[in-house]
Amino acid sequence: MAVGGVLILGIETSCDETAAAVTLDGREVLSNVILSQVDIHKVFGGVVPEIASRHHLTAINGVVNAALKEAGVTQDTIDAIAVTKGPGLVGAILIGLATAKAMSFALGKPLIGVHHIRGHICAALIEHKELEPPFLALVVSGGHTSLVDVRGLAGDPDGMKVLGSTRDDAAGEAFDKVARVLGLGYPGGPALDALAKQGDPKAAFFKRVTLEEGSLDFSFSGLKTGVLNYINSRRQAGEPVCEADVAAGFQESVIDVLSLKTFAALRQTGYKELVLAGGVAANSALRARFRDEAAQSGTRLFIPSPPLCTDNAAMIACAGYYQYMAGNTDPLDLDAHAVLPL
Ligand code: KG4
Ligand code: ZN
Repeated sequence: MAVGGVLILGIETSCDETAAAVTLDGREVLSNVILSQVDIHKVFGGVVPEIASRHHLTAINGVVNAALKEAGVTQDTIDAIAVTKGPGLVGAILIGLATAKAMSFALGKPLIGVHHIRGHICAALIEHKELEPPFLALVVSGGHTSLVDVRGLAGDPDGMKVLGSTRDDAAGEAFDKVARVLGLGYPGGPALDALAKQGDPKAAFFKRVTLEEGSLDFSFSGLKTGVLNYINSRRQAGEPVCEADVAAGFQESVIDVLSLKTFAALRQTGYKELVLAGGVAANSALRARFRDEAAQSGTRLFIPSPPLCTDNAAMIACAGYYQYMAGNTDPLDLDAHAVLPL
């Protein structure tokens, strides 16, 4: 252990951000370097896995070195290396994983495989030092929409239990698809968020899909079709389409369902603490709605600041710290997984 606390190097390459970070004692971020490939994938309208892997490969050493330098530490003084092992793009994850394994082997430091969603949840711990399990977490990202009962952070299967998740598209996927329909480009979420601010959420109505009574699962796959049908029927009737109203109406539909299920899960579990995490948690209207509902229901709400909501390695280092402290490290044959249970 380094003098003054535990230093964890985190590495994240599960999608289109090449990221590395150093944390001290889990929650103190000494560096958080993110090299985004967004401009590279933009022209294709989405992430191209093969291109993502190639760019991770050229960027990873520089990003790791920058994270160590910015933190003012050397590779010899870190205590362990935490890395995203899944879920995500397997070829992309492999680049971070191979880097972490090589460092682990060469330096003789423990390797810690981190589940990406555990990382997103841990992002909330970084800025909220008082937050401790148990609590409920809603993780809304490009690949996931999950309600998680968080009981512990050791990395064992009992520590986190999924209470509900999407049966088809993730919330972020719905944002990206609808943004594409509206010609907003990639990534669609932030652009749709901005456009919706100028629209009337009551002007265009889209169905709220709540599934069977009592279910905490989600379904967002019908929304893109709903938006397409709305636009087509207006055009056929010779009526104008206000894109901002469509964006606001769509966004309100997603937020209504997310909030309905999340606050039902809070009542079921009896928890009074809620974490909202993942890329979609950067959405301004979602943050505002959850703040209102939390205030009304006497819930303490913890949302990471927007840069910690989207993919980063500080959250992976933070999650890795708790696994390291619990002795939960991994062998060098650790695999990358496209799909991985929590
Ligand atoms: O967590 P994240 O960075 O990557 C995954 O693990 O998927 O989430 C990316 C997703 C994308 O779908 C993106 O459009 C969405 O988060 N997103 C947003 C906003 N910022 C990012 N969605 C809605 N509003 C935003 N402001
Ligand atoms: Zn993510």
